[in-house]
Amino acid sequence: TAPDTRGLRGEVVYFTGDPFLVGDGALTHHEDGLVVVRNGMITAVGPYREVADALPAGAPVDHHRDHLISAGFVDAHVHYSQTGAIASYGGRLMEWLEEHVYPEEQRLGDPAEARGAARFFVDELLRNGTTTALAFAATYPGSVDALLEETHRRGMRMIAGKVMMDRDAPPGLLDTAQRAYDDSRALLDRWQGRGRTGYAVTPRFAPSCTPAELEAAGALWKEHPDVHVHTHLSESADEVAQVRELFPERDGYLDVYDHHGLVGRRAVFAHGVHVTPAERDRLHAAGAALVHCPTSNLFLGSGLFDLEEAKDRRRPIPVGLGTDVGAGTSFSLLATMNEAYKVAALRSFPLPATRLFHLATLGGAEALDLADRIGTLTPGHEADVVVLDPRATPLLEFRTARAESLEEKLFVLATLGDDRAVKATYIAGRPQYERPAP
Ligand code: GUN
Ligand code: ZN
Repeated sequence: TAPDTRGLRGEVVYFTGDPFLVGDGALTHHEDGLVVVRNGMITAVGPYREVADALPAGAPVDHHRDHLISAGFVDAHVHYSQTGAIASYGGRLMEWLEEHVYPEEQRLGDPAEARGAARFFVDELLRNGTTTALAFAATYPGSVDALLEETHRRGMRMIAGKVMMDRDAPPGLLDTAQRAYDDSRALLDRWQGRGRTGYAVTPRFAPSCTPAELEAAGALWKEHPDVHVHTHLSESADEVAQVRELFPERDGYLDVYDHHGLVGRRAVFAHGVHVTPAERDRLHAAGAALVHCPTSNLFLGSGLFDLEEAKDRRRPIPVGLGTDVGAGTSFSLLATMNEAYKVAALRSFPLPATRLFHLATLGGAEALDLADRIGTLTPGHEADVVVLDPRATPLLEFRTARAESLEEKLFVLATLGDDRAVKATYIAGRPQYERPAP
């Protein structure tokens, strides 16, 4: 078959480095730029006048005039099983899980319910310009199949896993260490490396897992070190205290995971709001990642993530941005950037838009150890793209007209933008979402 080649023309922005470490030079900008895509991969990028030659005669060009073209957003921590629990009132983490999350997740034991939830979730990702996510499913293996069948069908790069949990929740949501191991292994065999799909060994968090459950997770990762580990770490102060009581023999929360062989490259820890300096050292040395989930941390009153410490140049930790829906209050990485800025403001840490967009694109890809494939628009990367409209709403239009620099335009989008600012989302070079005409 003939190669499928197309050009995406517009104001192109992408990262070639980490602005937390190397400054603004990490961002490349072509005011009238062109991204050339062939068979799902980016083959050229640059100023339109210089790169147009790379397009074969007759290849279609989608001209997104006055729009920004960016790498698709990476949601580095989200629960697809909790869409129905978003905006559920009341309580901090532990009460909120019991009251709202555990009942909701039990619904996904029904395969038809899981398929419906998966379809809605994936539509919502695409409407928000999110092209890759690292997702929790529910305990039930069928809930993983439902999500990954949906994303595989649409050609998305997606990583998900079955929740492993064997204590402290309704019986219908629990497995056992043996079941968790067997079910996870079967899912991993089915999904890891199938198309663009990856598997994550997903122990819920230390309070939901007996030592035997964590041991099963560690054993599975040891046998399949190419997959991810995905869990929660030090989200709330009460949770940290509970882990101390449950695991008195361990030297803190991260050490519980470490002891079971769950800390290393491709281990992704959501939150880390209350990690200690020694735990940051350990995360850095291990190459493990944290995911900042500001809308969730504010919603549950969990605390203010210390991004400055996490990105300290002397021992940087890869950090992605997560919506953490259902504790998170939006699927939009733009809305999540807005809250990340405010959390940083409360800590007097400057967070310019360049850094915010990095967290949501290449930073997330780095946190998932996927930076060689996604997160930017340089040749050799997969063509997952979001097209953003800086004039999507009357207020955005009014404010963007006053923006005097790219940084300012991006900051206005990060502060005022949401799903309305997403004009189109491309997966592997093909439009999978286009905003309906008003
Ligand atoms: N910690 C363990 N499980 C969860 C969850 O579902 N949501 C959040 N926010 N934190 C958790
Ligand atoms: Zn979470």
